[in-house]
Amino acid sequence: MQEQIFPAAAIHGAVELPGDKSISHRYAMLGSIADGATRIANYSSGADCQSTLTCIRALGVEIESHNHAVTVNGRGLEGLREAAPMLDAGNSGSTIRMLSGILAGQPFVTRIGGDESLSRRPMDRIIKPLTQMGGCIEARDGRYPPLTIRGAKLHPIEYTLPVASAQVKSCVLLAGLYADGKTVVHESIRTRDHTEVALREFGVDLEVRGRSIELAGRQRLHARELRVPGDLSSAAFFLVAALIVRESALTILNVGLNPTRTALLDFLAGMGAQIKILDVRGSGELIGDISIRRSPIRGGVLEKAQTAALIDEIPVLAVLGARTEEGLIVRDAAELRVKETDRIATLAENFERMGVEIRVREDGFEIPGRQSFHAAELDSFGDHRIAMACAVAALAADSPSMVDGAEAASVSFPEFFDTLRRVAG
Ligand code: S3P
Repeated sequence: MQEQIFPAAAIHGAVELPGDKSISHRYAMLGSIADGATRIANYSSGADCQSTLTCIRALGVEIESHNHAVTVNGRGLEGLREAAPMLDAGNSGSTIRMLSGILAGQPFVTRIGGDESLSRRPMDRIIKPLTQMGGCIEARDGRYPPLTIRGAKLHPIEYTLPVASAQVKSCVLLAGLYADGKTVVHESIRTRDHTEVALREFGVDLEVRGRSIELAGRQRLHARELRVPGDLSSAAFFLVAALIVRESALTILNVGLNPTRTALLDFLAGMGAQIKILDVRGSGELIGDISIRRSPIRGGVLEKAQTAALIDEIPVLAVLGARTEEGLIVRDAAELRVKETDRIATLAENFERMGVEIRVREDGFEIPGRQSFHAAELDSFGDHRIAMACAVAALAADSPSMVDGAEAASVSFPEFFDTLRRVAG
């Protein structure tokens, strides 16, 4: 599917975004092994989170879903049933990596795979700790989906994450629920803590000391009523749109403000963005409103822990980088190469088509500032965040552009193009 994007004169109004993808996955997975019915409001409309529901249903869990309200009828810690066919995680790395933690502790065998992009993504990062826990996992070439997970009696481990990955951390913690004893995960770079927050919301006793998380196995989870905040990573596309289009002033309502996700707001404010956070509320996952106005952006360097914290936002930050005064340098971002696409390569290809200079490195890139975008035929390459980043770049181009493969946006944000058209007039 192609979308035509017209240059915008202003981005304005107020928007509310679909539920956070990371939090939706976790609430559904934990709900499935909790005792009782978990009601989730504002569940993500994205295809990835629907993949999680499909997998959980295939494991014998009854789920009712109306619009964005999902009820997961939990079967308790030991209640999942063997799935007949192979589970289909679609395009979703979070589904396959986190669910594998639960599946490793079941008394049955599960096969789980996904689409072509997912089949190229590395799973050795979860196979290694799960094997140490006593799980038995076979993968294509030892590291790629589909996975065959022979559930086993798990034992607890103490594990230091070799890559900064919330998916891997979550996988080990979820497996830890099935282990006899205390599982400990150490992170050298702090990653999003939605699993820790969600486990506590389901009544699990969990200790966080600095960058270490400890969890005793065999704890029962209690069903909850939960509301998923709007997705800050989806908000990033609109924040950048408002920064690169003249005359912009935008408010984003009810968005998630978990402190392990808000590095984006600090990074933008540090470069001169006029951002205000209004009315932070909630317990557990924080929620609030953000207002932003167009202002000159200096540019900057993204590296180390900050790169890890902003990994999903880098495609759209690259678009901003070209419109800054001094440009943007991104380092320590080798993880971009193993996302839904090799995002360094797919960004570079689209920038080249728009006549924008980008100097690519193995683990990052440099984009000089004060550049102009020229209209072009752009391509998502099947990657949702590349589709949306291209659309934002096209708002600042000299004439209309086309985005090929625009349907990829529906992986996290099916309403993206409609919402964009609304705020861009
Ligand atoms: C996610 C963690 C990140 C992120 C992904 C969602 C999560 O992946 O890029 O979109 O929900 O835990 P990694 O764990 O691979 O860093």
